[in-house]
Amino acid sequence: MSEFEGKVAIVTGGANGMGEAVVRELAANGATVVIADIDRERAETVEAAVRSSGGTARAVHTDVRDEDQVRALVDTVVAEYGRIDILDNNAASLELTANDPDVVALDPQILHQTLQGNLIAPFLCSKYVIPVMIAGGGGSIINMASVAGFTGDIALTAYALSKAGVIQLTRAIAVQYGKQNVRANAIAPATILTPNVDAYMPQDYRDAYIHNSSTPFLGAPEDVSGLVVFLASQRARYMTGHVIPVDGGITSALAVAHDRRT
Ligand SMILES: NC(=O)c1ccc[n+]([C@@H]2O[C@H](COP(=O)([O-])OP(=O)(O)OC[C@H]3O[C@@H](n4cnc5c(N)ncnc54)[C@H](O)[C@@H]3O)[C@@H](O)[C@H]2O)c1
Repeated sequence: MSEFEGKVAIVTGGANGMGEAVVRELAANGATVVIADIDRERAETVEAAVRSSGGTARAVHTDVRDEDQVRALVDTVVAEYGRIDILDNNAASLELTANDPDVVALDPQILHQTLQGNLIAPFLCSKYVIPVMIAGGGGSIINMASVAGFTGDIALTAYALSKAGVIQLTRAIAVQYGKQNVRANAIAPATILTPNVDAYMPQDYRDAYIHNSSTPFLGAPEDVSGLVVFLASQRARYMTGHVIPVDGGITSALAVAHDRRT
């Protein structure tokens, strides 16, 4: 029997990048996967691709920043499939990072919008999914944080604040609902070459990033999706409340060490 036979998963932002990789991997392992994405066309393309390879997926057009839409998403999934076992809080308002400078220059509106997309949205999804998980005997929530959630940077101030919040949301869920078999963990990737990142990341920034990493390459979506699937599974039943970096070691060494490497 496949590992996730009979399990139902929601992947927010599952139409692209790491979310798409998670959708494909969960479906390949037997889960029924709901793609909750604002990009209707792309979500339906991923749904069709999963179905044509024998999996079960369903695109439900959702803007996870909107409480009514999140409530409707959860109601739809419960009406159709009867349970929710896995929630991958993956979507984020990444377009805002283009206008996310240092503290003094940051427009408070950008901070509000970033928190809405990156922190309030996973909070809303968790708020409405957790009672369904508890009613079904438990579940696993995986939140996409970032190394930006625990490091300082010269820009991306709002993004970093939102991801630090995601880490604390993870710990709150873990301690509040753990006894009802709901686990929560966060993943903190460094640069992952999703199609979107690959399209805009300048070569000099890639070179600098790799120079300061302990791997000779940047990450790929599959470097993260495998961990999401593991955390979603019963093999991770004793792991909860943690933040796991997938970062080529960039947060585990002093920057000066890389400069002194021969
Ligand atoms: N790619 C990286 O280098 C990187 C590094 C660290 C953390 N992350 C985090 O990983 C997660 C996934 O990033 P990615 O690079 O794979 O993203 P991506 O841009 O490739 O895909 C994001 C998906 O989310 C959807 N989305 C955006 N806003 C939405 C909303 N309000 N409601 C529903 N869907 C929405 C988009 O339509 C898109 O399909 C994000 O939380 C991001 O912050 C990414």
